[in-house]
Amino acid sequence: MIRKGIILAGGLGTRLHPLTLATSKQLLPVYDKPLIYYPLTALMLGGIREYLIITAPGEADQFRRLLGDGRKWGIELSYAVQDRPGGIAEAFLIGKDYLAGHPSALVLGDNIFYGTNLRAVLHEAAAQVAGATVFASWVDDPERYGVIEFDATHQPVRIVEKPKAPKSNWAVTGIYFYDGRASDVVRELKPSARGELEITDLNQWYLTRGELQVVRFGRGYAWLDAGTHDSLLEASQFIHVVEKRQGLKIACPEEVAFVQGFIDAEQLLRLAEPMKGTGYGQYLIRQAQQPGT
Ligand code: G1P
Repeated sequence: MIRKGIILAGGLGTRLHPLTLATSKQLLPVYDKPLIYYPLTALMLGGIREYLIITAPGEADQFRRLLGDGRKWGIELSYAVQDRPGGIAEAFLIGKDYLAGHPSALVLGDNIFYGTNLRAVLHEAAAQVAGATVFASWVDDPERYGVIEFDATHQPVRIVEKPKAPKSNWAVTGIYFYDGRASDVVRELKPSARGELEITDLNQWYLTRGELQVVRFGRGYAWLDAGTHDSLLEASQFIHVVEKRQGLKIACPEEVAFVQGFIDAEQLLRLAEPMKGTGYGQYLIRQAQQPGT
């Protein structure tokens, strides 16, 4: 069982200026909660309780104010800094001592995942400690992502980062699971033409050895990122519509911690107390008394 997770919340968020001049992208609101709650709860649903949060320089304090050491949600948070945007795979160099050779999960701090059985799917990935698992999602604009090329028997043969002529519409999403070799493999990688250590190169390393599992998110899943003004607004609209209709929250860490058994009903009520004048606080109280679904 994978026990450690890394949340990469670095980057300058330049595409979101001026929103991100004074705050971090991953702390911006997606409807009723900060963006980072979404990727964090995805890994919590996978059963992971120890996290390293990697931030841009000078931004760690903002995250600490929001999340603290995680104890309130029954998890353990540590913090590290990425000095400059050196690529997603650099997370495994920054996190080398933290991981100490253990298998791990990595999630990008601006990625949102929603769909049926997400918990079971992520749990399964976290249960695998040999090789690596990535998740692919069908998108209309694959040239913006790492894209998987499949052979005639639907086996993945190659992953290409931001291809000009994509061989499929299957983009690699920002949630990844690796065995204990990831840091050592990344140490051998060379920066790409854009000067970054590419996560695609790490994934390709596992694929070449026949040790990469590619799980496809089917049509019933929504994979959103929130790196531009439009995608941030669309993510808020999506969450708003679904939450309003169901009366259930997506990516509510207090609720997820409760459902996962990281905290009990009494602790959940204690978390709700300072927010009881808000719909969010009322929701937590309801979940503590009568869990939804
Ligand atoms: C990065 C990865 C890419 C992946 C994407 C998912 O892209 O390099 O392979 O598909 O995240 O969000 P970037 O954020 O660097 O454009």
